[in-house]
Amino acid sequence: MEPISRRGALTLGGLGLVGIAVGGVGLLWSSSSARTAQPLAGEKLREPPELRSANGRLQLRLDAAQGTVEIGGRSATAWSFNRGIPGPTLRLKAGDWLGLTLHNGLDKPTNLHVHGLHVSPEGNGDNPFVMVEPGETFDYEYQLPADHPPGVFWYHPHHHGFAADQIFGGLYGAIIVEDPETIEAVRERVLVISDITVDGQGHIPSVSPMEQMMGREGELVLVNGQVNPRLSARPSERERWRIVNACVSRYLRLQLDGQRMQLLGIDSGRFATPRTVEDIVLTPGNRADLLVTMVDGTAVLETQPYNRGSAGAIMGGNEQPRSGTAAGRARLATLTVTGESVAAVPEVPVQPTPRDLRGSAVTARRELTLAMGMGGMGSGGLMSFTINGQEFDGERVDIMVEAGSVEEWTLTNTSSMDHPLHLHVWPMQVVGADVGGSDPAIWRDVVNVPARDQVRVRIAFDDFKGRSVYHCHILDHEDNGMMGVIEAR
Ligand code: C2O
Ligand code: CU
Ligand code: CU
Repeated sequence: MEPISRRGALTLGGLGLVGIAVGGVGLLWSSSSARTAQPLAGEKLREPPELRSANGRLQLRLDAAQGTVEIGGRSATAWSFNRGIPGPTLRLKAGDWLGLTLHNGLDKPTNLHVHGLHVSPEGNGDNPFVMVEPGETFDYEYQLPADHPPGVFWYHPHHHGFAADQIFGGLYGAIIVEDPETIEAVRERVLVISDITVDGQGHIPSVSPMEQMMGREGELVLVNGQVNPRLSARPSERERWRIVNACVSRYLRLQLDGQRMQLLGIDSGRFATPRTVEDIVLTPGNRADLLVTMVDGTAVLETQPYNRGSAGAIMGGNEQPRSGTAAGRARLATLTVTGESVAAVPEVPVQPTPRDLRGSAVTARRELTLAMGMGGMGSGGLMSFTINGQEFDGERVDIMVEAGSVEEWTLTNTSSMDHPLHLHVWPMQVVGADVGGSDPAIWRDVVNVPARDQVRVRIAFDDFKGRSVYHCHILDHEDNGMMGVIEAR
């Protein structure tokens, strides 16, 4: 990789902030071209422990604490839920009740969000305004509706100002909502992808204002906390991969050369028939529900560069996040397919056709403008991150919607970087410019709004009332102000 101080020094130039936090980064693997070739580890893939609901209920305690974990064969001081990176996988069914007792063993306030679940944002539900102080415990309860969509979801802390640090530090886990009808697969794997930087002392260095402005990216990209783990399978086996992009800022463009990938859906969106794909782009926060049919040979699960723009003129330079350059390529896992071929698996049954709001009457139309500017509370005062000209204020309601209504939002990004916009509780249907189009309905709970571009979405504010949030899922941007409050009533 590059000399340690260079990244910090590049564009901050005369600002005098150079390298404070960046120094020491990457000493562990600094001798090689660390970011392109991840350290070879090749351990067998581990999967987080799974907890399943029984008789419609799942109750567990989540301990957020600092501890020593192994990353790429070295020991590091990180944070985790129940001593695992990732934390346990929670398996639920539509209609289930979930109880999570969060204990905060960190030295900063925290809280919990169940990303993508369609549950109430009020009280001790999926309430992002709850704060759990160090040493305290909080009981969350979530009731999934009987028609909750199946798919891959996840949980992570959501305390404004600390979300990026805490997720980068290891606090996340997967949630699966099972299909009403089983899709045949020989095995399922949960692959939580995250990135992290660990210094020579095994610590996670704090980030510079510049890194926050760009959105921090870790030097290592991990799968279930491992560096380039090994997977094996037999030819013709069909596996189900549940993939979470838990990176704070890094976009993933996943490829698995030579293997057959069929995408069942992204987030809680589901296609009626799975789509054969060559690559899958996941913004921070997105999940993929994927079928892989094995082909003889060795394949590497890689992430390819994704250009999410640059800070551009704002910082007087043109520095781009590493993940947008050739160095953004990383080897995530290695799959070996050998042995006797198994009998071919039957085609996937047709899935229920996704709901389509393009024909619905729209009660309100809104414009949301995502912007980056000079000054503000963001990035140590260097930058402002705003939605409709305002930084986050938890005391203010920015958008009031009528429960049960359908709205159309035009998301405009005036900045030179992409922003993945996320709305809690209610998923968004991407309708594009041509609302009358007949393409299959595309649903997401994190929608990418490319640099200097516009995206149109429709949202049905069904089932729940209460206050929640929408924000950029580059969590450094969210922590620095790019978040708003919505209330349904
Ligand atoms: Cu995954 Cu409001 O977050
Ligand atoms: Cu969320
Ligand atoms: Cu952003």
